[in-house]
Formats: sequence, C-alpha cells, structure tokens
Amino acid sequence: MADITFKVFRFDPGTDSAPRFDTFVAPLFKKGLTVLEALFYIQEKLDGSLAFRASCREGVCGSCAMHINGKYRLACETQVSELGSDGVIVQPLGHLKVLRDLVVDMEPFFAKYKYIKPYLMPGSPSPEREWPQTVGEHAKVMPSIDCILCACCHASCTVTATDPDYLGPAALLWADRFARDSRDNSLDERLRLVDQLHGIWRCHTIFSCQEVCPKDLDPTGCIADLKRKAMKRKLFGH
Ligand code: SF4
Ligand code: FES
Repeated sequence: MADITFKVFRFDPGTDSAPRFDTFVAPLFKKGLTVLEALFYIQEKLDGSLAFRASCREGVCGSCAMHINGKYRLACETQVSELGSDGVIVQPLGHLKVLRDLVVDMEPFFAKYKYIKPYLMPGSPSPEREWPQTVGEHAKVMPSIDCILCACCHASCTVTATDPDYLGPAALLWADRFARDSRDNSLDERLRLVDQLHGIWRCHTIFSCQEVCPKDLDPTGCIADLKRKAMKRKLFGH
C-alpha cells in the first residue's frame, strides 16, 4: 500500500499568529481514494483537530470545495491518484476569511446570492397547480440550475480578489438563471440589481470561473448574457 504525503493548510485565528502547513503521511488504502476520504483518515487517525467541511460526499452539497494541487475543486470528487506522485497540497477557498484550517466564512458569498433574489418573481398570483413551461423554455434555464453553490468560481475569480463587493460569478449566474426563466416577470428589477458598480461590468471575461466549475457551468457566458440584456434595455428599452 503506497503512502501519500499531504501538506494541509492550518490556521486558527484565535490562537495562531500565522498560518502554516502541516505534513501528514496517509496510506493509499483503497482504489479511488478521494482527497476528502484522505482528510477524514487524517482527522480520525492522525490529528483530530483538523477542521474541514463536508456533507454529501458525492458532489451534491458543494461544501467540500477547496484548493487542491493548484486548482479549486471538490475534495469528494477528486481522486488522490489523479494528482500525480508528488503529494497533495490542500488549502482553503480563496477570497473568503479563514475561520479554521480549511473552513472559510461563506456568509459574504451567500449574502451576494441572496442579494440577487434567487427566486421566481412572476408579478402575478401563483396558478392553482403549476407554472407550465415548454421544453424550449426549460432548456433556457438549463444547465445553470445544476449550480451547487460550492464557491469554486468565486474563489478563482481575479475580480473577486480585488473587489470584495463584486457580486461574483455564482450570484451572477443565478441572476441570469432567473432572468432567463419564462415564468419570471421582473427583468427590470433583476437588471437593476446587477447593472451597478460591483455587478456585471466588473467581469473581465477571464473565464477562470468557467474553468474550475465542477459542474461544467458557464458563469462567464451567463454574465455576458446579462450584459447583453442590460445594454438592450438601455438602448432599446426592452
Ligand atoms: Fe460552484 Fe459552478 Fe456554481 Fe460556481 S457556478 S458555485 S463553481 S457549481
Ligand atoms: Fe458534498 Fe463534496 S461533500 S460536494
């Protein structure tokens, strides 16, 4: 059974004067071992004080996003064997305050998500049973609805790094998702929320969000769609 070296970011702002990396050696104890399973091994067998987030362990909840060997990804979907033989370096999500070790404060990220009003605003009373949608109308909101709010895109974004108030790729992807929805009737309000100093125009179309998204979504394309809609509104009023 081969051994793998893990360098793991450690920091407790309450007691540590500076962050550090701790080195752990863990066995590759099963085929397909994921980074998340290795972190659980470290926590259970080597250092019970290691802090990280996880829940579903299958790429659904988005809570295990972290920086692994140079890229933001989900620890539960990253196999150690994919990462080469030089060991594994694990760090927390960027641009969010570290609460402890690999756990960051997600509040600012979710505050931006809440700000864009991530729910239907049809402007009319709900029908008795359901809002019907054609296949074509539904296709317009696909695949953005697969976003699991993991914040990999937010952490990889160079604009988020320099402007903490920038709404960021995930919130803007969701703003676009509702702006595209045939059941929604609040485009003016949605564009008002994102057509502002820290909104859509701050995106420099660098594509780093798209590159890291574990669900292969296209936040950059969604932001471009919002820019088009905002310009159309300004120029033609619709
Ligand atoms: Fe995560 Fe992709 Fe959603 Fe960004 S767009 S929060 S990377 S799933
Ligand atoms: Fe839920 Fe990884 S633990 S996405």
